[in-house]
Amino acid sequence: MPVIAIDGPSGAGKSSVSRAIAERFGWSYLDTGALYRALTLFALENGISTLDEIPGRLADAKLHWNGNPQTPEISLAGRVINSEIRSAEVTAQVSLVAANPAVRIFLLGMQREIINNAWPGIVVEGRDIGTTVWPDAELKIFLTADLQARAVRRSAELQANLSDSDVERSLAARDRIDSTRDFSPLRQTEDQIVLDATHLSFNEVVSEIIDIIGELKLANDDGKHGR
Ligand code: DC
Repeated sequence: MPVIAIDGPSGAGKSSVSRAIAERFGWSYLDTGALYRALTLFALENGISTLDEIPGRLADAKLHWNGNPQTPEISLAGRVINSEIRSAEVTAQVSLVAANPAVRIFLLGMQREIINNAWPGIVVEGRDIGTTVWPDAELKIFLTADLQARAVRRSAELQANLSDSDVERSLAARDRIDSTRDFSPLRQTEDQIVLDATHLSFNEVVSEIIDIIGELKLANDDGKHGR
């Protein structure tokens, strides 16, 4: 079963690109950032203020991901939290929570279980999918864009009262924490295909990846299913 790993920094367009590709082939979709965000929300809502306290509470979170690229849904104990995990508070804290080794080990197990149960293919996006979560992925993409282009895209998405330069600063801070943490950092490797989306449209990025999937014969001729 094909596993497509799409890694890269914040704001490069990984989520929308990954969803479009999964939809195109009738595959499953996993947004691993949403899992880290959900555990961050769980910690904030339950007054878990120190990172040391999180590991003992992880099992209580009852985290669930539905895997659907058209209507992705993340929940805690049955409560859908799709919009709550995008709040400024969660965004400000998530890189710190994601640097916690116990959190990463817990989510590593969960991510692998979701991939193992997916059929007939899955697109997984994150920071360490091709390096740690699923090193045997049939296709590994590193999707990036320069900081300014990522900030402009993120500001439009956020519709919040933040200037492009505020968003740029916040992205740069998260990139720094995500790339320099000890445990499974964001990094580019030689077995990844690098796509720089700075001067590419969304459709150009999607069709480039669909072409690569075709060239590698990872989907049947009807384009629907993985081999
Ligand atoms: O993709 P995102 O912005 O929703 O990710 C939120 C945070 O989660 C990001 O700052 C780093 C972390 N993350 C991670 O450490 N490893 C992943 N595979 C995915 C996300």
